[in-house]
Amino acid sequence: MTTSNMKMNETIIQLTETERRGMEQLIDQLPPIDVHRIPADHLRHVIKVANDQFPASIRERIQQFQRNPNRKGFIKLTNVPVDSSLPPTPKDAKPTTDKHTYRSEYTLLMTLMLLGDPIIYTEEKDGILINNICPIETDGDTTEHTGSKKFFDFHTENAYHPFRPDYLGLVGLRSDHDGLAETPVASIIEAIQHVPETAIAILEAPLFRIQPTKMFEQQHIKARTLPVLRGSREEPAMTIHFSLMKGVSEDAEWALECLKNALKKVVVSQVIQPGELVIMDNRVTVHGRSTFHPRFDGKDRWLQRMFVIENIKPIQHLLVDFTYTCAPLGDWIEPR
Ligand SMILES: [Fe+2]
Repeated sequence: MTTSNMKMNETIIQLTETERRGMEQLIDQLPPIDVHRIPADHLRHVIKVANDQFPASIRERIQQFQRNPNRKGFIKLTNVPVDSSLPPTPKDAKPTTDKHTYRSEYTLLMTLMLLGDPIIYTEEKDGILINNICPIETDGDTTEHTGSKKFFDFHTENAYHPFRPDYLGLVGLRSDHDGLAETPVASIIEAIQHVPETAIAILEAPLFRIQPTKMFEQQHIKARTLPVLRGSREEPAMTIHFSLMKGVSEDAEWALECLKNALKKVVVSQVIQPGELVIMDNRVTVHGRSTFHPRFDGKDRWLQRMFVIENIKPIQHLLVDFTYTCAPLGDWIEPR
């Protein structure tokens, strides 16, 4: 398929065997990755390789998603390279030293960095760029990505942060045992038609208090008050976190409820399988996680995730030591 005949609503991009092999050959020539701290010059090298040598057919379709997004706000690439053998799923969701091949990491890096620069948050997962998303036994009841027993409600990734990622990628390494762990994704471009005009006007006003997530709790940061919707009716964007955000009035709470109902009408739920990569536009979509039943036997669900930001220039002054790591929020955010 060429760029010109891509449909506006195309979300699935199935790599042919030739395309997958082309990616694999490229990846297999690259050096091992220190997943604890990938040096900035290593990342810049990967960006260059992705731009210069990535199979053109795949690169064009990913960049087409950026230039001319579909209405669902995400794409799913299937048949992407992942590692042929895997160590046990990490029980603490930290980087594992037992993984000695890096196909999944490079698949994320090379595809995501076609859309922008990587972005790392000091507070998030110890400032590590490629995060393991796995269930942690002691976090079962939490509504976070390490939980499993409770539905993790719709949210914008890093909704509290003033410089949120523009895109996030999730690559599947291992499914959950029962094939139940779904990643629901809902787009405001599709949902807005189901939101009453009065509610839209309320959602565009700064009437919504968001609490910082657990990862910022050491920094004693206050709640921020934000609008939920911005942009036009044709090109809307949103920032929302249904578990951490509340309207400041009854009307604002009603508008949030209207938005939630609208998002439920358009949600697409999917189990991310090994060898599948979902790339979401974090400005127009929200995502969540269904419940599932981990066994903590080394064969649990395992995804890897990374973030990119389209234009890193406005936050250059916040990056630590010429890396892609954003300084701790408490060091620079204005109290509200
Ligand atoms: Fe998330």
